Amino acid sequence: MRSVAVTNAKGGVGKSTTAINLAAALVELGRRVLVIDADPSGNAALGLFPRGAPGIGLADALLEGRRLADVAVPTAHPGLDVVPPGDRLGLCSEQMGSVQGLGQGREFRIRRLLKGLAGYDVVVVDTSPVLTPLNVAILYAVAEILIPIDPCVAALAGVRALEDLVRTVSEFREEFTDAGPLSIAGVLITRVDRTLVSKQIESEVRAYFGDLVYDRVIPASVKFREAYARGTPLIHYDPAGAGALGYRDAARAYLAGGRPGTAAAPAGADGAEAAEGSGADGDQSGEYPFLMAS
Ligand SMILES: Nc1ncnc2c1ncn2[C@@H]1O[C@H](COP(=O)(O)OP(=O)(O)OP(=O)(O)O)[C@@H](O)[C@H]1O
Ligand SMILES: [Mg+2]
Repeated sequence: MRSVAVTNAKGGVGKSTTAINLAAALVELGRRVLVIDADPSGNAALGLFPRGAPGIGLADALLEGRRLADVAVPTAHPGLDVVPPGDRLGLCSEQMGSVQGLGQGREFRIRRLLKGLAGYDVVVVDTSPVLTPLNVAILYAVAEILIPIDPCVAALAGVRALEDLVRTVSEFREEFTDAGPLSIAGVLITRVDRTLVSKQIESEVRAYFGDLVYDRVIPASVKFREAYARGTPLIHYDPAGAGALGYRDAARAYLAGGRPGTAAAPAGADGAEAAEGSGADGDQSGEYPFLMAS
């Protein structure tokens, strides 16, 4: 069983959208997938249960010692189950230890819960953008992270903070657990539009992360919001669109080990739809040297 947390300290980059669509694409490829919604706001669960997810979920596994299997619920898509956050997850997220992750062993609770799980090929964990002890506990639990990055200014700043955290967590994991280092499965560039700033940041991200970056990007499209409002993964709502193709390629690249070579189109060459704000922000000026400034 593989386990991957979709994470980025920046909000609104497409973490929940990525968790939902990566999971749905993995199911299309014949995998049994569990999405654990570890964000108290429950965006990933809501994207699969438009009328509301059950109030019992991860919080109950953490607080009441229930098994993940007991709080997992099937979705309308066979092979895709979800553990909703549960109504009390906001309470738990501060009680998992300090943000450094050293909190009387509580940071390993999610790890223990995952170890007791069977019957899935991949567990995809959606995380909140806030650096809570719960998020650190997730980094102790999963084997890999997948980082969605939207190409806006300051995209890399948050990622650097995340990398520092991953390094610290990896050292701790290697020293005190049987987990081994935490690895970056891949970097997925999301919400790409035709603006110059989008192109430049994409190339900055590719220069920085090298072949960890999936070849195909996810274009910005209003279809994502439409799909979300219907409680359907975009890959089912608009199955032939560029967003669906992007998430399918991401799923294949993830299964191939997070390395490129499976994705078809070069970045940005997949007919990205004219996106919100596309070309409208007057960013014709050329360089954005501050993007990589440390
Ligand atoms: N490629 C895209 N194009 C256009 N809109 C998108 C795209 N991906 C996601 N969105 C929309 O942007 C909003 C934020 O996306 P999402 O909730 O996935 O981000 P997030 O990183 O999980 O946010 P948060 O940090 O608040 O958890 C949602 O309304 C979603 O439907
Ligand atoms: Mg989210």
